[in-house]
Amino acid sequence: MMKEIDWSKLGFHYTEPDYIVRAGYHNGQWEEPYATKDKFLHLHVSATCLQYGQEAFEGLKAFRGVDGKIRIFRWRENAKRMQRSAEGLYIEPVPTELFGKAIRLALEKNMDFLPPYGTGATLYFRPLLIGTTPRLGVGPGRDFEFIVIPSPIGPYYPGKFHCTHFIVNRHVDRAAPFGTGQFKVGGNYASSFRATEAAHAMGYDCLFLDSKYHRYIDECSAANFIGIKGNEYLTPRSSAILPSITNDSLMTLAKERGMKVTRRHIRLEELADMSEAAACGTACVISPIDQVFDPEKNITYSFGHEPGPVLTELYHTLRDIQFGRAEDRHQWTDVFEI
Ligand SMILES: Cc1ncc(COP(=O)(O)O)c(C=O)c1O
Repeated sequence: MMKEIDWSKLGFHYTEPDYIVRAGYHNGQWEEPYATKDKFLHLHVSATCLQYGQEAFEGLKAFRGVDGKIRIFRWRENAKRMQRSAEGLYIEPVPTELFGKAIRLALEKNMDFLPPYGTGATLYFRPLLIGTTPRLGVGPGRDFEFIVIPSPIGPYYPGKFHCTHFIVNRHVDRAAPFGTGQFKVGGNYASSFRATEAAHAMGYDCLFLDSKYHRYIDECSAANFIGIKGNEYLTPRSSAILPSITNDSLMTLAKERGMKVTRRHIRLEELADMSEAAACGTACVISPIDQVFDPEKNITYSFGHEPGPVLTELYHTLRDIQFGRAEDRHQWTDVFEI
């Protein structure tokens, strides 16, 4: 029986699914993933995830397409990124095949939570990987738990595709150069909360600059930055930012529409030369920026109150692939007929 969910009211919030999927790693071996209704862990208080932050996570989505088929977007890239995050934190990486099996099982067991086509809502998966060995002495554990938590989420833009504004932060560094910023690990987010919550309190999202010089654009809260300058798609090169799968996809699409794509250090002042700017990530695909305020210099960089034409086109092109409305020439989606 279909769940009584008002798909139009879902935001980016957790809705309890029927099942989560789990697989443990013990004595050097991964278990087969299994589905369980129990959303609680029996975890030792000295587990390395709690004591030393041995934790990594991911985020990806399943889409009910215009043709009724289900598409999961680039999950192998999420599996690879989680393997890099795991290696970065001395965690046992989850093999790609196991990652895929767990996502598929989480989908099959929660079909009532997959939003219908036309609502704009999707089924989000949050894979989580934690160290569970009890340890008092500082060091990594030997036991791990891989968990996939599904949750339906609403369309990022329930109404119109709209703009957000950012404030420049120079007081809190999210991640050090060559630190953990390139990995998707909980510590990066906890360490950014002081800055992001202060920005929210002032009505902004937070634009992080590079931690060494506070000169170059690093990340837009929990998303990559994109700028459009003439026919150029610009995005930061930094050892402290997460390699976004959405950004990678948009770069491919930008090249296909004849744009020059450049990944390099981007000075904050270069915003003045850009016609469009945005944050990008799985949740929003593209979140256009209307202004960036630099409080120390009292400068506001403005990009207009309406999303610009290039980013609007890229947004629709990627969404059309995800919802099966356009040909998936890059085999980015895996199709499931459940
Ligand atoms: C810090 C950070 N940067 C960028 C992104 C965007 O990455 P993706 O496009 O793979 O979702 C995310 C979201 O996962 C993020 O948390």
